[in-house]
Amino acid sequence: MKNRHLIDIKDFSKKEIDDLIKVANDIIDNRDKYSHKCDGKILATLFFEPSTRTRLSFESAMLRLGGKVLGFSEASSSSTAKGETLSDTIRVVGGYADIIAMRHPKEGAPTVAIKNSIVPIINAGDGGHNHPTQTLTDLLTISREKGRLDNLTIGLCGDLKFGRTVHSLITAMSRYKNITFILISPNELKLPDYMKEELEKNKIKYIETTNIEKYMNELDVLYMTRVQKERFFNEEDYLRLKDYYILTKDKLKTAQKNLIILHPLPRVTEIAKEVDDDKRAKYFEQAYNGVYIRMALILNLLEVK
Ligand code: CP
Repeated sequence: MKNRHLIDIKDFSKKEIDDLIKVANDIIDNRDKYSHKCDGKILATLFFEPSTRTRLSFESAMLRLGGKVLGFSEASSSSTAKGETLSDTIRVVGGYADIIAMRHPKEGAPTVAIKNSIVPIINAGDGGHNHPTQTLTDLLTISREKGRLDNLTIGLCGDLKFGRTVHSLITAMSRYKNITFILISPNELKLPDYMKEELEKNKIKYIETTNIEKYMNELDVLYMTRVQKERFFNEEDYLRLKDYYILTKDKLKTAQKNLIILHPLPRVTEIAKEVDDDKRAKYFEQAYNGVYIRMALILNLLEVK
């Protein structure tokens, strides 16, 4: 039977995403019910780029389902360092594991992987392109915190050019009703044109600004992002832009009481530590939710009932 993969958030319909969120919520409420669902199954985590949350939450997800994990956390400790191609690595690991979560610095690498895989592949981040499982985590968090995914004004702030989490989140949220995006970035780090063209084609409202305070009082969700140092060609540009936005208590003065502040993490300087005590800061809850939505995804792709 043909395997199903998750490479782009569009690989799952809105209904399928809503179902994954339902399962994740059920797992949160009934953890014991799921603790042997993947007995005898193995997840491989192939991380050619650094990660804390995505790799460890995938591994935690499989362990909490009763399965086992294997893998590597940097390309230098795999035979990639000896010149092995991605397609050969994937072909081999498919014989060692039932499902693969992979992160790669090259955009499109997961598309190469699926052509050579006999098991389901999950894109755990490809370059500055997509990060669909972060988006599933974000959607679960927004729906739990706000009680809805429709009728939201979402501010996305920081590196909208290279931020793969932003690209996947905009794609996913564009499928819900009455969404407005406030795109807050320095001019050099604006959302790519191809994404804005997609928003225009689908008649989704968006505003571009460089000013984080201007629309603060209108936001239901503020999604902060790190300036993606690893995607810059020129260190001087990175140093000039890295502290462009620093969210402080003072900047939140005009924000709504029921705003939620998200960040895919890791954070560098873009959210001051003092904001962590604000009850609207939900980025650590967001990171915890990553385990449950990934449990739901593994169950789905392995077709475990
Ligand atoms: N949010 C996220 O992808 O974090 P890591 O890079 O630590 O996996």
